[in-house]
Amino acid sequence: MNNRIYRKIKGFRDIFGNEIYYWHIVEDKFKKIFSLYGYEEVKLPVIERVEVFNKGLGDTSDIVDKEMFSFIDKDNKTVALRPEGTASVARFYIENGLFNDNKVDKFYYYGPMFRRENPQKGRFRQFYQVGVEAIGSSSALLDSEVIKLFSDFFDSFNTKLDIRLEINSIGCQMCRQSYIVALSDYLKEESNNLCENCNNKLQSNPLRVLDCKNIRCRDALENAPKIDKFLCGECKNHFQKVKDYLNRFNINFLVNLKLVRGLDYYMRTAFEMITDHFGPALAIGAGGRYDGLIKQLGGPDVPGIGFAIGIDRLVTLLKEVNEISGELKFFIAYQNSNQIDSVICLLKELRENYLNTITDFDGKNLKNQLKMANKYSVDYVIILGDDEIKGQYVTIKNMKNGEQYKFSRENVAIVIKNKFINGGVNCFQ
Ligand code: HAM
Repeated sequence: MNNRIYRKIKGFRDIFGNEIYYWHIVEDKFKKIFSLYGYEEVKLPVIERVEVFNKGLGDTSDIVDKEMFSFIDKDNKTVALRPEGTASVARFYIENGLFNDNKVDKFYYYGPMFRRENPQKGRFRQFYQVGVEAIGSSSALLDSEVIKLFSDFFDSFNTKLDIRLEINSIGCQMCRQSYIVALSDYLKEESNNLCENCNNKLQSNPLRVLDCKNIRCRDALENAPKIDKFLCGECKNHFQKVKDYLNRFNINFLVNLKLVRGLDYYMRTAFEMITDHFGPALAIGAGGRYDGLIKQLGGPDVPGIGFAIGIDRLVTLLKEVNEISGELKFFIAYQNSNQIDSVICLLKELRENYLNTITDFDGKNLKNQLKMANKYSVDYVIILGDDEIKGQYVTIKNMKNGEQYKFSRENVAIVIKNKFINGGVNCFQ
């Protein structure tokens, strides 16, 4: 026999048990909220031709430069596991000729993304994103609606998350160019105070130096030129309108003039939802406008904007601020096997009423069934013993505090719901 135990690959993980409950809550939330704003789901392949990302995200982005899982397939084509969804949506949009419909197309997607980053807290090599893309308008009103949706999603959790919305305008090709020249001049003067990575970035993509987390680099950037002074009239006007609309939507935001995004397709509005939970300033969601992307990938010149939220990071945050872990679970324990018809009948009734219920299959004695219920971490055991069957009632034991209740068997599922569920036990309702 081969006794070798296989272990998962570095940066990949199994997600199971208690944590799954949070994933389901998050999935339910985004489906509801995104459809309120008119977004429809698109299921995209996890593998694309590598050019979709090389061209879309830009050769100097970290993702293309060093983080992509790409390989040559048997037909000699280089393919990549998708590192993000926006370039794939652009490919899909062009391939299906959706630009002919003369409307703003709104899509959302959900699934695993792959980046060969250094695994650490909140950073995995396979992680999940839910993202939205709104393609077909360059209006600042659309920017603010997308940011409003982004912010609504985070607000939809009853619990207060320690997060902040930051926005910026990174200008268009034209005005960004003059900013990059000024920034590069400044950074060259400071190069001795910058880390090695920033010195490399200074050559390939100076804007990225702005979001280095190294304290020395941050100090060196203190007096760096700010992008707002370089925005052209149109970009300035667009950004002002976005901010005005956000105020009208009553959204709290901070303007962070150092906010730049790591992918080349962005222009004008950029935004991030930041938390300090995993270390200084990590984004749990981010997005921006990408008006040149569709053209860059061979389509017509159609503008777009969107965002993606990192579900792994969000779930970690939610788990740590909520003590309550899951929906209530019930276990039916019975005294002897000739009561199985009553067990089946009660199981059916409880499940039809959306109560999570399990039982014992093997006819163990009552004591062992109670032990088993404990192992399943159920909240309540519903006991069907001889006395209960004869007297047409059930005994319910609270496994956390040992309290017991007796309820008439008639309509017991409804009674349980009223007593245990509708009392606001679930923090996510
Ligand atoms: P991004 O900033 O690269 O943007 O990723 C969005 C979110 O994905 C991040 O804020 C983070 O929460 C999560 N994320 C990224 N990398 C990892 C990782 N290694 N481990 C865990 N979570 C991670 C994009 O991907 C753009 N496509 C967003 C967008 C959509 N822009 C316009 N439309």
